[in-house]
Amino acid sequence: LNQPPTFTSESPALCFQVHGICGRARACTLHFPNGGPPVPTPRFMPVGTKGTLKAVLPSEISDMNCPIILANTYHLAIQPGTELIDEIFGGLPKFMGSVMPEDNSDKAANKSSVPPKRRFNLLTDSGGFQMVSLAALSQVTEKGVLFESPYTGKPMLLKPEDSIRCQNEIGADIIMQLDDVVSSVATDDNRFKIATFRTLRWYDRCVNAHQCSHQQNLFPIMQGALDVSQGGLRELCLAGFKHRDEQAQKHVNTGGEGSVPSKLQQRIPGFAIGGLAGGESKEEFWMVVDHACRHLPDDRPRYLMGVGYPLDLVVCTALGVDQYDCVYPTRTARFGVALTDAGLSKLKQHEFIFDDHVIEEGCPCQACSRGVSRKRLHMLLKSGNTSVAIQLLTQHNVCYMMGLVNRMREAILEQRYPAFCRQFLAAQFLNPA
Ligand code: GUN
Ligand code: ZN
Repeated sequence: LNQPPTFTSESPALCFQVHGICGRARACTLHFPNGGPPVPTPRFMPVGTKGTLKAVLPSEISDMNCPIILANTYHLAIQPGTELIDEIFGGLPKFMGSVMPEDNSDKAANKSSVPPKRRFNLLTDSGGFQMVSLAALSQVTEKGVLFESPYTGKPMLLKPEDSIRCQNEIGADIIMQLDDVVSSVATDDNRFKIATFRTLRWYDRCVNAHQCSHQQNLFPIMQGALDVSQGGLRELCLAGFKHRDEQAQKHVNTGGEGSVPSKLQQRIPGFAIGGLAGGESKEEFWMVVDHACRHLPDDRPRYLMGVGYPLDLVVCTALGVDQYDCVYPTRTARFGVALTDAGLSKLKQHEFIFDDHVIEEGCPCQACSRGVSRKRLHMLLKSGNTSVAIQLLTQHNVCYMMGLVNRMREAILEQRYPAFCRQFLAAQFLNPA
C-alpha cells in the first residue's frame, strides 16, 4: 500500500494513499506523475501568488521540506500572461524554479536512482475568488466573471474555459474549477442559490475544456453558503458533484478494453471545500467543514480553501480535511509576526528588545537553527533594514507550518491525535507567548 506508484501514460494524474485514520483525521500521501516529491497529508500549501513565495528562494522551498505550493491564475494571467509563461519559460514549474537542472555527474556515473525532476509540486487556483475579492467592479454572469484589469482599466471576461486554458498553460499538478464565490456573510439567499448551481454548471464547462487530465488534476469546489440543512445548498452541491463522479466511475468500470474515458467521464481526483474563511463565526465554519467531510468520499483528498490559522488546521484535520492553503503565515511574517506553539510573537513590540531566545527552540529554520535571537530580529525590523528579517521570519513561519502538519500526521499514525489536539490547545491558550 505504501509503495510509491508507477505512473503510465494512461494512469490518472494523482495517486492517493491512505496510511492511517485516527477518529476522522487521516494521514495520507498524494503522488503526482511529474517527478516532484510525494505530498504527505495533512498538508499546508504556502501561497506564491505570482509564481514566487515572497522572500523565499526556490531551493529554500524544498530545503524547508515543503512539497507543494499554490499560485494564482488570476495574477499570472494578468501579468506576465499564461501564454508567455508557457511559450517563453515552458510552464510555471520552470518559471518558479521547481524544475531541477539535470545532474550530469549522476548521468556520467550511470546511477540507477533517477533524481526527482521537481523541487516541489504546484496547485493553481482558478481566479474566480481572486477576481471577486480583489478586482474593482467585478460582475458575475452565466458566461463568466467580468472584471476591470488592474493594469489597463479595460473590462475583461474570464470564462470557465479561459481559466482552464490558462491553468493548462501554467501546468500545475492540481488545477481548480472556476467557481462562483459569494462572501459567506452575504445576506441574499437567492444569490447563494444561483452561485451554487452555477458552480456545478461551470464545473462541467471546465471538465469539457480541460486538455491534460493525465497530467493535471481538476478539482471541483463545493459551494453553498453556510447552509448545512437537509436538502440545503451544501447538500445539493455535494450531491451534484457526487452524481457526476458516479457517472464517471460507472463509465470507467464498464468502458471498453483499454479505452481512455472521455473528458466528461473522468473520475473526480479530489474535492475542494470553498466559500469559507470569509468572516463567518467559527461555529458556522466548523459546521460546514464537518458536513462536507462526512459526505465526501473517503478515498479522495479533501482540500479546504483559504484556511491557514494553526488552530483551524488542528480542528479541521480532526474533521477529516487533508489539504489547506492560505497567505496568512507568509503575509504575517512580512508584518514582523512569528508563529509559535505558544501563539504569536509580534517581534516589532518593545518587549523583545532584550530577548535573547530564538523564536522557537528546535525549529529547523535558518533563524532558529543558527541562533538568531528575538532581540536581533526586533532590531532588524525596527532599523528600517527589514528585508533580512522578513526573509528569516517567512522561513520560520513556513517551517512552523510544515512542522505542525508533520506532527499532526505523526500523531494520527500513532493513534494519539486527540491528545495532540489537547496539548496544542493548552500550549496556545493557557501559556501565551
Ligand atoms: N480561496 C478561498 N476560498 C475560495 C473559494 O471558495 N473558491 C476559490 N476558487 N478559491 C478560494
Ligand atoms: Zn524558526
